[in-house]
Amino acid sequence: MPVHIAELISQMTLEEKAGLCSGADFWHTKAVGRLGIPAMMVSDGPHGLRTQEEGKGINDSIKAVCFPAGCASAASFDVDLLRRLGETIGAEAKAVGLGVVLGPALNIKRSPLCGRNFEYYSEDPTLAGELSAAFINGVQSQGVGTSPKHFAANNQETRRMTCSSNMTERTLREIYLPAFEIAVKKARPWTIMHSYNLINGTYAGESYELLTRILRDEWGFDGFVMSDWGAVSDRVAGLKAGCELEMPASGGVNDQKIVAAVKDGTLPEAVLDKAVARLLNIVLRWADLAAEPAPELDLARDHDTAAAMAAECAVLLQNRGALPLAPGQKVVYIGGFAAAPRYQGGGSSHVNSWRIDSALDAARARGRAVEYVEGYPTDRDQREEAEFLRAVEAAEAADVAVIFAGLPDSFESEGYDRKHMRLPDCQNNLISRVAAVQKNTVVVLHTGSPVECPWADEVSAVLCMYLGGEAVGRAADALLYGDAEPCGRLPESWPLRLEDTPCYLDFPGDGHTADYREGVYVGYRWYDARRMPVRWPFGHGLSYTGFVYKAAALSADTMDENGSVTVTVTVRNTGARPGKEVVQLYIADETGTTGRPPKELRHFAKVALEPGEEKQVSFTLTARDLSYYDEKMGGWYAASGDYTVLIGHSSRNIPARLTLHYQTARRRPLTVDENTAMGDLLRDARTAPVMKSVLQSFGSALGMNGGGENAAITEEAGLQMLDAMPLRAMASFGGAQAAAALPGLLAALRAALPEAQNKE
Ligand code: BGC
Repeated sequence: MPVHIAELISQMTLEEKAGLCSGADFWHTKAVGRLGIPAMMVSDGPHGLRTQEEGKGINDSIKAVCFPAGCASAASFDVDLLRRLGETIGAEAKAVGLGVVLGPALNIKRSPLCGRNFEYYSEDPTLAGELSAAFINGVQSQGVGTSPKHFAANNQETRRMTCSSNMTERTLREIYLPAFEIAVKKARPWTIMHSYNLINGTYAGESYELLTRILRDEWGFDGFVMSDWGAVSDRVAGLKAGCELEMPASGGVNDQKIVAAVKDGTLPEAVLDKAVARLLNIVLRWADLAAEPAPELDLARDHDTAAAMAAECAVLLQNRGALPLAPGQKVVYIGGFAAAPRYQGGGSSHVNSWRIDSALDAARARGRAVEYVEGYPTDRDQREEAEFLRAVEAAEAADVAVIFAGLPDSFESEGYDRKHMRLPDCQNNLISRVAAVQKNTVVVLHTGSPVECPWADEVSAVLCMYLGGEAVGRAADALLYGDAEPCGRLPESWPLRLEDTPCYLDFPGDGHTADYREGVYVGYRWYDARRMPVRWPFGHGLSYTGFVYKAAALSADTMDENGSVTVTVTVRNTGARPGKEVVQLYIADETGTTGRPPKELRHFAKVALEPGEEKQVSFTLTARDLSYYDEKMGGWYAASGDYTVLIGHSSRNIPARLTLHYQTARRRPLTVDENTAMGDLLRDARTAPVMKSVLQSFGSALGMNGGGENAAITEEAGLQMLDAMPLRAMASFGGAQAAAALPGLLAALRAALPEAQNKE
């Protein structure tokens, strides 16, 4: 503990120390005036400031720029963009005097139905982690902290405050924790916000394993943990587990419980002192930085930044030729979202937007020949016949119909989950009717998460803007008319229908528990393992130009445990327009290890290329890239053998494949006793020689060679049976000699294994 902090703590009363462990109000930590400890203000959120106005209610926040929400910024697949976004929000936060921005929100999108998916980044932990780290580094470069949230496994809104997310340790480690791990290791966030839910029956905020053993001891987190708002159940248990700050406040009730626990000896005062030290460390760091001059708040400039970013986040999902629009074309915009885009979601991340740009305003400002028909309202599923027909007629008379579709606000928000994955029927119907009379039909989507698109094969183009922030309309205009190049990629799979999704049978659970029975098979890991068709796969996104990959190579064919290998590939823009390609690198385990998804994203890079230009991209692979979390070994492990390095445009468009051989001296523990299967012993290089020599003597007696082609037990069946046969079968089937040889065999097998693994 630094001396000045220890000195401060020594001057604090027990009540002051306990008091510091909860908020002063909804948005501030407590000050201790007599010791010069200031109050620090925190505010949402991930894609713009929701900073409450002095003396007003929680729904009255200052005017701020609403940047693309997490669903959209993740689609940029661009760490530089996330860093710039963080810098911009960080500078705004500093300008208004904030200490911590409550974000990024990086929970994994387990089901497309989660009401809060619009705030989250991805179904893939590597993508979510790398983007979060970049955002955090950006914000914190401005002298303001972050609070990556919600730690951890908070993947639904239904009963979020009392529901237990139940899963295996492997699933937690491989899918739900790595994004936080990457964020902590690469960006050292000042704080972390623990989630509302329980994990395997223990509140996340009371889990010593999560908040101390993993977060601090394993990953090296050195900030403080705060609770999500109202997430505290047992305050003293939380403090012991590693939650330093309760937010917002509990009217002093929980502070008194801390005082009482110290007094009656159930809470060592040293635990409280450590928590206070961690809090002061950050609050005083912020106070020092806050003394430096703050930048000017320039919302007009930041609005332009938001517009440029929204264009980089849009995903061109399909284009059979209608895009980009040509200057002289007669175009009709249909759908209320053309005039009033949906660009953010509801709940704690809701920004009081500074200005909103619609695509229609943008088109008119540029003098484009665009007619507008509302077609349907944006806030409900309601078909008005006259308006519907007007839209169809206008579409027929135009050269191109652009339909602005999307989810009404009430369909997705913090606090509840969606019940289905459909757009309002009025929108689906109108899209099909328009497509029937107009071959150049384009659908622009404003949605925070995937929707079923039953009309996809009927329309020419689909452009997904996600929830692109307040300037989304300007970005849509630029993309539609080719003034900007589409370069986003899907950070999540778009399934054909809800019933195809991995946790369809288990989401959102029974109100008490959510069983994560799909395990590590989340998103593309599931669709690929099941070889299922999807509407658009993870990583997919088109451009107005084309790219080819060449000269993919590894710096070495073999890698060992502590080594690394460089992967290089050259990407060329083969089209006539500039563009950006996202090079994606996946790993496939070919070693025969059970339970591994067919491929997993490990690296990605976005490259800008002029027409005809080519660039080399390189990635460094280490053992962790090949590894899975092995519960038996209590850590990350990759088996010796071959791995395929897949490099491509998307999870389902992989032009380059390379084979990497990996070798490690580590072996999974093998217990040898009478119930160990012979197949396991034959497959393990350490015990195989002993086992093979025994089978030379007794294999026939054990049925290894079968009884010939027409026999009841063929040779193949014999081998299969032997594979699963426990050693004790030597006595049952091998005859007296084999029975007598069993003790010696057990001893020889144990001798072949290291001490720790061969205990009886
Ligand atoms: C949300 C958090 C948010 C907090 C403060 C909670 O309801 O889950 O994400 O930061 O409120 O607004």
